[in-house]
Amino acid sequence: MLASSAAQGTTHPGCFLTFEGMDGCGKTTQLRLLAQYLRERGRTVVETVEPGGTDIGRQIRRILLDPANTAIHARTELLLYFASRAQNVEEVIRPALDAGSVVLCDRFTDSTLVYQGCGRGLAAGSVLELDRIACEGLRPSATVLIDIDLETSLNRAKRRNEKYGQSESRIDDESAAFHDEVRKGYLALASAEPERFIVIDGRAGIGDVARRIQEALHDRV
Ligand code: TYD
Repeated sequence: MLASSAAQGTTHPGCFLTFEGMDGCGKTTQLRLLAQYLRERGRTVVETVEPGGTDIGRQIRRILLDPANTAIHARTELLLYFASRAQNVEEVIRPALDAGSVVLCDRFTDSTLVYQGCGRGLAAGSVLELDRIACEGLRPSATVLIDIDLETSLNRAKRRNEKYGQSESRIDDESAAFHDEVRKGYLALASAEPERFIVIDGRAGIGDVARRIQEALHDRV
């Protein structure tokens, strides 16, 4: 019973693409540009985000990112990210993939591996165990990692928080050492799975980054 539900998630007629990168890398802008590009070419595209993406997920997101919530324990944080993801997989992502759509997700389990795993020091094995429960074997077809250096990330996140307020800054407010571990974690994941990851230098202009993503995904979507 358990084994068959875990196997369920692995096949579907859609295409599941995730966007990853440090805070301020530009992945949200690039996700929207790719969605527009694919729609212009006749594809049905569903955009979603982690944490968030559903009503329940948005309520969880508020708890996770509120800088006033300093008491959240690392394991609580880990479980809340996966609680949001389980709801998103069930309510949005899997139905869209089953219907043959392209699903673009702003962050997914790779974020948890690097932020809670590398950043908070939680074991990768625990993260992957929760992934199996929350996502039931669902894996991205490809993952776009927009890579920027630590300094660029911290500066962009700071400017954005000054402009839009601090209501979602709990993780952004972590130390430079935390964010450095996050970047190293991403690069390690990408080199461990080169067939899934597409690594793009995020310091190029918005148009250039968008073109590189389109080219890299040409044969996969
Ligand atoms: P996001 O909205 O993508 O923020 P940004 O636009 O700054 O990149 O993600 C919110 C924050 O949550 C971000 O700092 C990364 C963090 N996060 C985790 O720590 N673990 C996770 O599993 C996910 C999905 C996000």
